[in-house]
This record gives sequence, C-alpha cells and structure tokens, in this order.
Amino acid sequence: MSQFLSYLLILSFFFFINSLGTNSTPLCLPQYCGEDIIRYPFWVHNESSSNQQYCGYPGFGVRCENDKAVLGLPGDRNYSVKDINYTGHTLTLVDIDVTTNQTCPRPRQNFSLETLPLKYSSMDLNLSFYFNCISYPPTVPFIPCLSISSNRSFVFVENHETEGFDWSKNCEETVVVAVTQTQINMGNLTGGFSAAMNDGFVLDWGSVKDCVTCENSEGYCGYDATAEEYLCVCNDGSTNSNSCKGMLSVILMGTDAWFRFHMINSVHCF
Ligand SMILES: *[C@@H]1O[C@H](CO)[C@@H](O)[C@H](O)[C@H]1NC(C)=O
Ligand SMILES: *[C@@H]1O[C@H](CO)[C@@H](O)[C@H](O)[C@H]1NC(C)=O
Ligand SMILES: *[C@@H]1O[C@H](CO)[C@@H](O)[C@H](O)[C@H]1NC(C)=O
Ligand SMILES: *[C@@H]1O[C@H](CO)[C@@H](O)[C@H](O)[C@H]1NC(C)=O
Ligand SMILES: *[C@@H]1O[C@H](CO)[C@@H](O)[C@H](O)[C@H]1NC(C)=O
Ligand SMILES: *[C@@H]1O[C@H](CO)[C@@H](O)[C@H](O)[C@H]1NC(C)=O
Ligand SMILES: *[C@@H]1O[C@H](CO)[C@@H](O)[C@H](O)[C@H]1NC(C)=O
Ligand SMILES: *[C@@H]1O[C@H](CO)[C@@H](O)[C@H](O)[C@H]1NC(C)=O
Repeated sequence: MSQFLSYLLILSFFFFINSLGTNSTPLCLPQYCGEDIIRYPFWVHNESSSNQQYCGYPGFGVRCENDKAVLGLPGDRNYSVKDINYTGHTLTLVDIDVTTNQTCPRPRQNFSLETLPLKYSSMDLNLSFYFNCISYPPTVPFIPCLSISSNRSFVFVENHETEGFDWSKNCEETVVVAVTQTQINMGNLTGGFSAAMNDGFVLDWGSVKDCVTCENSEGYCGYDATAEEYLCVCNDGSTNSNSCKGMLSVILMGTDAWFRFHMINSVHCF
C-alpha cells in the first residue's frame, strides 16, 4: 500500500473517531434584551426552557424583564444590569430597590459577591445605611424621606460614621451598599445618595478557573446543570469536556506533520 493511501486511511479514521466524540449544540449566539446585547460570558435565562445546558459562566445568567436585564445574585438579590463593557470586562449594576423607587430608595440588601468571579472596581466605595434609629446625636444630618416621626435614618461612607456613637445598636437595621466614588457628594450625602445609587457601581469580572483551558482553545465555556459539569462549546457547535483541541486533534496534527515530512522527503527521493 502506498504511503499516500495509508495516510488517507489514518486521516479518515481519526475524523470518524473525532465525530463520534461530539454532538451538535446551538452556538453561543449573542441575544438582545431590549436594546442591550447580552453575550458571552453572560447569557439569557430562557423562561420557556429550564436552561439545563447553557453557554456562559454559571452565575452570569441574566433574566430579561420588561426589556431590561436583571442579574440575580446568590441569596435571592436582584440587580439591574446598567452596562456590560465586554472589552473592559466590567459590569455596572444598580440595586433593584433603587430602580423601583428613584426619588427615595431604601436599600434592603447588603451587597456581597459570594463565590462569583467578580471583584469590586477601584472606582467603588461603600455606603452604610442605618434605618429607624431611635436615638442619635441631634446634629448629624439625617435622610428626611426615610425618617418617620422621631425615628431617623442615616447614611455614611463606610467607616466614616460619626464617632463615639454605636449606630448599629441604636438603629433597627444596617445595610451596606456599593456606589461609584465620583458620584458621591461628600458634603450632601443625605440628599445625594439616591442619584449616586441610580448610577450604580462597577464590578470587574475575571475568568472562571475551569474555563481557562476551553477559552484558550478558542472555545466558549458553558455548563451542564444536569451533569453538574463544565462544557466547552466549539466554533463548529460541538461540545467537548474541557477543550476544543482534544487529544485526537493533537494526534491528527502530529500525523499531518509526519505526513508532510515524509512527502517532502519522498519528493527529494524522486
Ligand atoms: C427558549 O426555549 C424554547 C424551548 O426550548 C425555544 O423554542 C425558544 O426558541 C427559546 N427562546 C430563545 C429566545 O432562545
Ligand atoms: C428576584 O427576582 C425573582 C424573579 O423575578 C423573584 O422571584 C424574586 O422574588 C426576586 N427576589 C427578591 C428578593 O425580590
Ligand atoms: C470599556 O472598557 C475599555 C477598556 O477599559 C475602555 O477603553 C472603554 O472606554 C469602555 N467603554 C465604555 C463605553 O465605557
Ligand atoms: C418610595 O419612597 C417614598 C418615600 O419613602 C415612599 O413614600 C413610597 O411609598 C416609595 N414607593 C415605593 C414604590 O416603594
Ligand atoms: C465594600 O465592602 C465589601 C464587602 O464588605 C468589601 O469587600 C470592599 O472592600 C469594600 N469596599 C471599600 C472601598 O471599602
Ligand atoms: C421606630 O424604630 C423602631 C426600631 O428602631 C421600630 O420598632 C418602630 O416601629 C419605628 N417606628 C416607626 C413609626 O416606624
Ligand atoms: C448587612 O451587613 C451588616 C454588617 O456589615 C449587618 O450588620 C447587617 O445586619 C446586614 N444587613 C442585612 C439587611 O442583611
Ligand atoms: C442636597 O441634595 C439635594 C438633592 O440633590 C438638594 O435638594 C438639597 O438642596 C441639597 N442640600 C444642600 C445643603 O446642598
């Protein structure tokens, strides 16, 4: 048998094996939510299917509600997605309690990142709210719209509370939220906090550890919630376990190199 024929046989065998190992899935196409484009590593929850398999990072699935993207974070906390910068890898979120009451928002949830691959941006700072305080230093500015009769509510930049007073002990509830530093008017926090909260806060996202190999092989990382394992979705729509350059492709490239080498050598022989 000629070298060429045996090469063809080996080649078709590998193609056959390779095609057995994969099955087709829809590509990781961007989707619109209103005017916002949602694309990898974010993805859109589909209300009519249970998203057992998706393309994107776990925890980065947004719900599209009234043409606005909403991100649900661990602990049943909802945030409006104001902006996703895909080149800068930043995400701007607004507390959902602020978007529903813009004039006098009362934040109800502490912000925390849990295990998501997100970090606070250096642009952020934290505000501490103390609601329904029954006792307080009389000269400290309070939030008029969140104060009822003699109960007052206060807001401070975190760790810059009026000293010598135990705020958490004298108030009903403490909530800590993030805002963008530049939106804060330090001289008028009690009047300006709602505008600052409406502008949201910025988070940087990094890559998921289990997705790096896949992304480096030009694949899109996904997750199979039924099997509880990561997927690697390749440009041809196939899914692999963790990379689009599987062992077989490596062998195939090796075979190809071997063949080229021998062809060139054979040509020299003629
Ligand atoms: C949502 O899922 C249903 C059922 O799987 C499918 O028919 C529909 O096209 C999906 N919608 C979007 C926007 O992907
Ligand atoms: C977050 O949004 C979901 C879906 O709309 C809703 O079921 C859930 O109750 C919301 N959570 C809170 C704390 O409002
Ligand atoms: C997105 O991030 C990049 C890189 O940080 C930055 O140059 C660009 O201005 C940002 N785009 C917007 C619309 O903010
Ligand atoms: C918005 O805040 C104001 C002032 O606290 C309050 O009277 C009103 O009920 C709030 N509206 C909603 C929808 O929460
Ligand atoms: C805001 O609070 C979070 C959670 O406690 C913390 O990780 C973060 O460093 C704080 N940010 C600033 C600017 O202090
Ligand atoms: C005032 O705050 C206390 C707790 O600090 C709370 O029990 C009480 O219901 C509040 N009063 C009003 C009118 O909201
Ligand atoms: C928010 O976090 C503070 C501590 O930083 C805690 O004392 C407070 O109870 C939390 N508030 C809520 C609503 O979970
Ligand atoms: C604080 O800000 C509010 C809202 O912008 C404004 O109405 C109020 O006049 C400001 N107060 C001072 C003392 O600047």
